[in-house]
Amino acid sequence: MHKLAAQLNDTLQEKAPKVFHMLSNLGKELYYPTEGILSQSAEAKSAKKYNATIGTALENGKPMHLKVIQDTLSAYEPKDLYLYAPPEGKAELRHAWREKMLKENPSLQGKSFSTPIVTNALTHGLSIIADLFADTNDALIIPDKNWENYDMVFGIRRGARVVTYPLYDQQGSFNATALKETIIAQKSETGKAIVLLNFPNNPTGYTPTAEEGEAIVQAIKEAAEEGVNVVAVTDDAYFSLFFRKLDYTIFIRSISRHS
Ligand SMILES: Cc1ncc(COP(=O)(O)O)c(C=O)c1O
Repeated sequence: MHKLAAQLNDTLQEKAPKVFHMLSNLGKELYYPTEGILSQSAEAKSAKKYNATIGTALENGKPMHLKVIQDTLSAYEPKDLYLYAPPEGKAELRHAWREKMLKENPSLQGKSFSTPIVTNALTHGLSIIADLFADTNDALIIPDKNWENYDMVFGIRRGARVVTYPLYDQQGSFNATALKETIIAQKSETGKAIVLLNFPNNPTGYTPTAEEGEAIVQAIKEAAEEGVNVVAVTDDAYFSLFFRKLDYTIFIRSISRHS
């Protein structure tokens, strides 16, 4: 194991042992390279005369580019288009996104959550989560009405077991009891449950009421208290396409309550 990964694991084991146990074997091996080429490039940004760490050509103080491309993207500055972006996304964008979340969800003020990272759309984000948390035979818990690619990303790629529960109960409400029981059933399996929530749900369009949202968070909390390591994932692919007015998403609801 790389020494930077080992250091991260030591920190997690000390500060957040549950999170350490939720990581997959691959997740435990991963790290951001804070030494070597990338960090040398970052240091060289403040160089006054030459930066010989990166193959970036400048012209008239701007990144060199073809006029024909710039003409179609004239709303953007060359410095925002042609230079390498860090793997986790541009810092300005990440901070602006965090500010937007805080502005739109005042209940997040003072809560602990990271600066978002930039991904190539949702499937990439989901596949990073699958790499970080899913090992062979870990349960991916989704409702019986779901977006089929979850199986591809978590099951076929990472060997997770896809376990479903009925989305609706007898009254046509969200089946929080079935969700909770399905999570608790993982105690005798790998002891870990990756719970993926997607509202408005694809394919049904179903969105929980505020009470159902509360019941979902409560079901996850109670199952975690039974000793299952729950990785809660929210896929807000259709965020804002609500036919019911929700004041905040399940993600916001969870961290507002529990951090
Ligand atoms: C529920 C759900 N999640 C994720 C995606 C994938 O989104 P993206 O194209 O941003 O990867 C879709 C696309 O249909 C979806 O319906």
